[in-house]
Amino acid sequence: MCTRYSQDSLTLKKIEEILRSDLSDEIKSVASKVAENRPPSKEEIVYLLGLKDSEERQVLFDLASCVRHDNVGDTIFIKGIIEFSNYCKRDCLYCGIRASSKVQRYRMSPYEIVSTAIEAADYGVDTIILQSGEDPFYTAEMVVDLIKEIREKTHRSVSLSIGERTSEELKAFKDAGASKYLLKEETVNRKIFEKVHGSDYDERISTIKTLVSLNYIAGGGNIIGLPGQTLEDIADDLIFMRENGIKMAGIGPFIPTKDTPLENYPAGSADITLNAYACTRISIPRIQMPSTTALGTIDKNLQYKGFEAGCNVIMVNLTPDLYRKNYRIYDNKRKVEFYETVKDLLDMKKKLTSLIRI
Ligand code: 5AD
Repeated sequence: MCTRYSQDSLTLKKIEEILRSDLSDEIKSVASKVAENRPPSKEEIVYLLGLKDSEERQVLFDLASCVRHDNVGDTIFIKGIIEFSNYCKRDCLYCGIRASSKVQRYRMSPYEIVSTAIEAADYGVDTIILQSGEDPFYTAEMVVDLIKEIREKTHRSVSLSIGERTSEELKAFKDAGASKYLLKEETVNRKIFEKVHGSDYDERISTIKTLVSLNYIAGGGNIIGLPGQTLEDIADDLIFMRENGIKMAGIGPFIPTKDTPLENYPAGSADITLNAYACTRISIPRIQMPSTTALGTIDKNLQYKGFEAGCNVIMVNLTPDLYRKNYRIYDNKRKVEFYETVKDLLDMKKKLTSLIRI
């Protein structure tokens, strides 16, 4: 048997326990595949995504936790996010900062962005994420200068989450020192994507592939619970990430947002989101996977529950309060605050990176 696990690993022990139990054939088949370093099939992922509160769901979470432990350890990585502009040229139906939204717009100056990044590094976050709407105001040259200055002054990883850019721009950002880039596919179901996001499906998928080929630590991910989306679609998202060399996955439930065309649609399921975390961990064992703010917006404890389902990252929000309230991508967006998060995680006896200063 070809396995990535040593005989005394937690994962192999858990798998043996599952195989000896009277759980379903489906979970046993998944467990055998994990042992053999093979990913679950689409049908198996669909089955796991649909698990309701049950002994089997807990076993799935435990298996995901073992896979995380054996592949990347149990450290929770705290990344700091700076939402530096809420201008956006896109008009995604789900998003509160879509171009046609009446939200009050802001742009942080390069000086403000760099000062906030230095503050983030002082807290001890290991990665500084620069996020914005798709805002062409920040030219490639401006972004390159920002990356260089932040790298020089903080020595932290810089991750970008600024939407679709040309291959030349992405290469320039990489050369300037950005090592990570988040560009969620949102959904690989073309019909749903075109309905909620726009006509840029091919462009988006090819940009994600460009990120991988430029050797970024590339982040994908989806929204769980978009109108019309099925468990099969969600399984396709996870398979897409696995097959395309995605190394970070941002998976969060859809949150209906006032004054957007989807305001009256139901929120995405927190249960399916947690199941998706576990499936992703099992399918892509070394993935960096945040328990997302969107999940924490439904309930803070659900966000922490993500760490029991395979997640190993949390993004704390370092956007100055003055601006943060207008970075309203969805309603009641939880402020994941640095000290509160660190205290909660330490109370839960979680291991944090040694950089963290409290
Ligand atoms: N509900 C959930 N997630 C959303 N995003 C934007 N709007 C919503 C919403 N209403 C997510 C998108 C985007 C990320 C920054 O926020 O997935 O990639």
